[in-house]
Amino acid sequence: MIILIGGEKGGTGKTTLVTNLAAMRRNQDGDVLVIDTDKQGSASYWAATREGNELFTRVPSIQKFGKAIASEIKDLACRYEDIIIDAGGRDSIELRAAMTVVEQLIIPIQASQFDVWTLAAMSELVNQAIAFNQDLKTFVVLNRASTNPSVSETQEAKEVLEDFENLKLLNTVVHDRIAYRKAAKSGLSVVELQPKEVKAAREMTSLYKEIFHE
Ligand SMILES: Nc1ncnc2c1ncn2[C@@H]1O[C@H](COP(=O)(O)OP(=O)(O)OP(=O)(O)O)[C@@H](O)[C@H]1O
Ligand SMILES: [Mg+2]
Repeated sequence: MIILIGGEKGGTGKTTLVTNLAAMRRNQDGDVLVIDTDKQGSASYWAATREGNELFTRVPSIQKFGKAIASEIKDLACRYEDIIIDAGGRDSIELRAAMTVVEQLIIPIQASQFDVWTLAAMSELVNQAIAFNQDLKTFVVLNRASTNPSVSETQEAKEVLEDFENLKLLNTVVHDRIAYRKAAKSGLSVVELQPKEVKAAREMTSLYKEIFHE
């Protein structure tokens, strides 16, 4: 499976999802490569931190920049079962190029900053990519949702997304939890934290299953 985690906005949780999903895939004996197309290099930094901890599975990662990544992704797809790409901050050359070759695009959106303009722009980009990549499936995942049950962000997001035929909302909602920041700092996924972070682990497992169809 070739998965791209991208979007038009910075700081929505792209690297968080890339690193968690990649570690979980490795833990299932998956043959996965992370491609970091962000010059900030946070996913690569995470992978390097992880490598320093021999108790955990190594997650291979490489950095790639520029338009050529479309053909590079295709080449690498022959060598790895799964590729997870971190598209970095904004509407970039890498995001556009990768969209033409991946199977799934996952767009994390911060529940509290949910905005229709970003979605309209992404929907337009997806339409352009589909001209080259008819099999592209695009999903939106709500991230950093409030853990306060009285906040109705999820329902609002569902209603807005109904207007975009090419963007589907994943059932799993990822909440704002310290566990994500703890895991990121140590090169881990939330399912690997000790003591266990049950709620974060549960939602990430649910997201993993939705994305990898398990
Ligand atoms: N569900 C969450 N709960 C708590 N903190 C989170 C969550 N998701 C992301 N964060 C934190 O928010 C910050 C931004 O997340 P992240 O780096 O994953 O976003 P990004 O989309 O990759 O950003 P950029 O556009 O800069 O690459 C990080 O400090 C991260 O630890
Ligand atoms: Mg990032």
